[in-house]
Amino acid sequence: MLTEMQEWKALAKHYDEISALHLRDLFKAEPDRAGRFALEAAGLFLDYSKNRITGVTMEKLVGFAEAVNLRGAIDAMFSGGRINETENRPVLHVALRNRTGSPITVDGQDVMPEVNSVLSRMSDLAQKIRSGEWRGYCGVPIRNIVNIGIGGSHLGPAMACEALKAFSNRDISVRFVSNVDGADFVEQTHDLNPADTLFIIASKTFTTDETMTNARTARAWCLRALADERAVARHFVAVSTNAQKVVEFGIDEANMFRFWDWVGGRYSLCSAIGLPLMIAIGPDNFMSMLDGFHAMDRHFAETETGQNMPVILALLGIWYNNFFGAQSHAILPYAQALSRFPAYLQQADMESNGKSIGRDGKKVGWQTGPIIWGEPGTNGQHAFYQLIHQGTKLIPADFIGFCRPNHDLTVHHDKLIANLLAQTEALAFGKTSEEVAADGVSDRLVPYKTFEGNRPTNTILAEQLSPRTLGSLIALYEHKVFVQGVVWNIYSFDQWGVELGKKLAGRILDEIESDAEPELSHDSSTNELIRRYRARKRWDQSTV
Ligand code: F6P
Repeated sequence: MLTEMQEWKALAKHYDEISALHLRDLFKAEPDRAGRFALEAAGLFLDYSKNRITGVTMEKLVGFAEAVNLRGAIDAMFSGGRINETENRPVLHVALRNRTGSPITVDGQDVMPEVNSVLSRMSDLAQKIRSGEWRGYCGVPIRNIVNIGIGGSHLGPAMACEALKAFSNRDISVRFVSNVDGADFVEQTHDLNPADTLFIIASKTFTTDETMTNARTARAWCLRALADERAVARHFVAVSTNAQKVVEFGIDEANMFRFWDWVGGRYSLCSAIGLPLMIAIGPDNFMSMLDGFHAMDRHFAETETGQNMPVILALLGIWYNNFFGAQSHAILPYAQALSRFPAYLQQADMESNGKSIGRDGKKVGWQTGPIIWGEPGTNGQHAFYQLIHQGTKLIPADFIGFCRPNHDLTVHHDKLIANLLAQTEALAFGKTSEEVAADGVSDRLVPYKTFEGNRPTNTILAEQLSPRTLGSLIALYEHKVFVQGVVWNIYSFDQWGVELGKKLAGRILDEIESDAEPELSHDSSTNELIRRYRARKRWDQSTV
């Protein structure tokens, strides 16, 4: 049991000893703190000195990670062990970006030839679309890509297309439809011409209801205009692990890009799920992103615990989550292009570590995954930062910034970065009541204008938001999540928690659609809401 380990108990005792210390005092006592608590790896610089830690804290956290055999867990993942035990699968997203060509085996079979063959088929299609060689059914080049997928089959490519817009071919628009809300499909396609539109139906299972509903709507939308079933072959491709379902849907296997059950949905951006991104930024940039992922993978696999960036981030998260009682963790990219990064990390982190049953099948007796949230700076500063600065909750935060912008408005960029740095400084050191009073503020207002400080932050700085940097950044967080799952002794690669709602929605849909008044046997609240919706729905239809 985790909480019975002597390393855990030592950390709990250490927390009692140092939790009252203020970052002001820690910086005063250790003038070399910025150099001491900083790391560089795979093109990323991490300053973690503005955390409520001492050298002893880090020693104890690292000792704790070693005591739970983190090294063994890392080796098991990289060597293809079936670490996703509840689904009996290996977890090998690292193979998707293994740029060394060295073999990685699943059940004795090297998966690299297949991985590379799919990458090369993706490159071929991406090049044909970008060059205008791939023509639609009416003979015109494809100019619009619509990715239909949800969760891991949507968030990664959508986030990355936005992040790397500066590297994309602006003659091709790449859009995303994910929600079963018809408004999503309607809005994303209202100005499109089916003749120059290609749909990518992206679904690991090819059974997800939202995706299949949108895919059927897309096919009908396309055929309404093109009026020939043969058009499907020129306007639809599929990305999936399930060839049978793809063919049943009516997409030729020749237009299918495979991936494998050892790739988790939320870890699939480097697989064929990245196809819309590759079309947008081109194969070379996509490969460069894989290089960035791989550089961080190698750092993670090969670096000792105390110098390992994903491990350090994970341990700091555990420090606040399990000892300070922090409930959430903010991701604050100072880059508009990373506007979807917090949402992407929500799935990566919360679907992975939002678990309460341990590997022994019993309820855990400690906190697991935090609530991940965030928005880009500086926007958030004018919205929710008030609570981080002066609220009653402790919210550890990651600030992410880039030294060179992907545009030439450098005046903007200096201001952006000045704000990032100012926020981490203000959060750490605050402003004392004496300092406020010295500004001539009335006694009545002094408490309101005082900033307690002592709010912990990490700062991640990279040179530029490039495909390579983005790859390193995503891999950093993927491995952070992995490490936390190992320490919390939970299974990070399944997601049983999404099943119940799916099942109940199927039952309720039948009741909502039934012509005869259904016999409802839910709780009284759900029954009443279903009746109300049915009554309204009928009323709406009769007036249309
Ligand atoms: O419902 C959750 C989930 O299974 C995610 O884990 C996954 O990324 C998403 O649905 C989409 O699944 P698929 O790619 O199979 O359509």
